[in-house]
Amino acid sequence: MSSLVSIGQLDRVAVERLLRRAQSFLDDQQEGKENVRVKGTAVNLFFEPSTRTALSFQLAAQRLGVRVLDFTVENSSVTKGESLIDSLQTIDALGVDVAVIRHSENWPKLLEGEKFNLSLVNAGSGIHEHPTQALLDALTIRQHYGGFSGLKVAIVGDIYHSRVARSNAQLLGLLGAEVSFAGPEVFRKGDVAEHPWIDFEQAVSESDVVIMLRVQHERHRQLFDTANYNQHFGLNMSRLQQMKRNAIILHPGPVNRGVELTDDVLRDSRCKVLQQVTNGVAVRMAVLEWCLQGGSNEQLVSA
Ligand code: CP
Repeated sequence: MSSLVSIGQLDRVAVERLLRRAQSFLDDQQEGKENVRVKGTAVNLFFEPSTRTALSFQLAAQRLGVRVLDFTVENSSVTKGESLIDSLQTIDALGVDVAVIRHSENWPKLLEGEKFNLSLVNAGSGIHEHPTQALLDALTIRQHYGGFSGLKVAIVGDIYHSRVARSNAQLLGLLGAEVSFAGPEVFRKGDVAEHPWIDFEQAVSESDVVIMLRVQHERHRQLFDTANYNQHFGLNMSRLQQMKRNAIILHPGPVNRGVELTDDVLRDSRCKVLQQVTNGVAVRMAVLEWCLQGGSNEQLVSA
């Protein structure tokens, strides 16, 4: 079985195949065609809250005909102290084919050296990676621009705490986009400080894609005051006027309304937040199909 734990596993050909496959699921759905059926059993292990990722993995599995086991961390033996490794070994011994995992820790690192028969899919690992979010963002950009080469992409906001920023910078860079970060200085530290940063006003006026990030209060030791955030680092209708005419706005969600984006920006046709959600199901179908078919796509690397 094959796993998708990191964008670093993928080369450009593999990414483009996954994006094409995801697009074909969307096209088939539009034309009312039946989805392919893939045999298998999946379980979603979410140690952190989620609406979009959890529901879209569940829906993706259902559309493929994959059985999803009913599991919640709160009602599991995790509450008795069972470790992630022990939980996964148990799930593996039960004969489950895929475990989709979201955790506040960099969980692939916790599993280093462990061997499992089942596939592991990363639905978010601490501040480190969110590969399927990056893939669905890439699909949304591809639908608008047809490609990535030479596109200017600005990722804005709470960069340091963002697995979305890290996965997107890696993926969109691989695909040929020019990726910059922008946002409050307090979020410019550690590994992300080594990436190119630009001024927020420049990000707004020169970018083809602006990816706004949620301020992740749950990951901050000290409270970050967002009272004037929108004025300095958020999008509102006046900033929208400064953007390129064809530029688009992405946000992984959930949005802190009035902070990263105002209500009227969320309603604007250039804001693709709900299209991202729709694309998330198709991308996760492509990823689950690939995992369950044993990584038949030779360009995708086994973890
Ligand atoms: N984008 C994202 O991961 O959203 P959820 O936390 O709702 O899954």
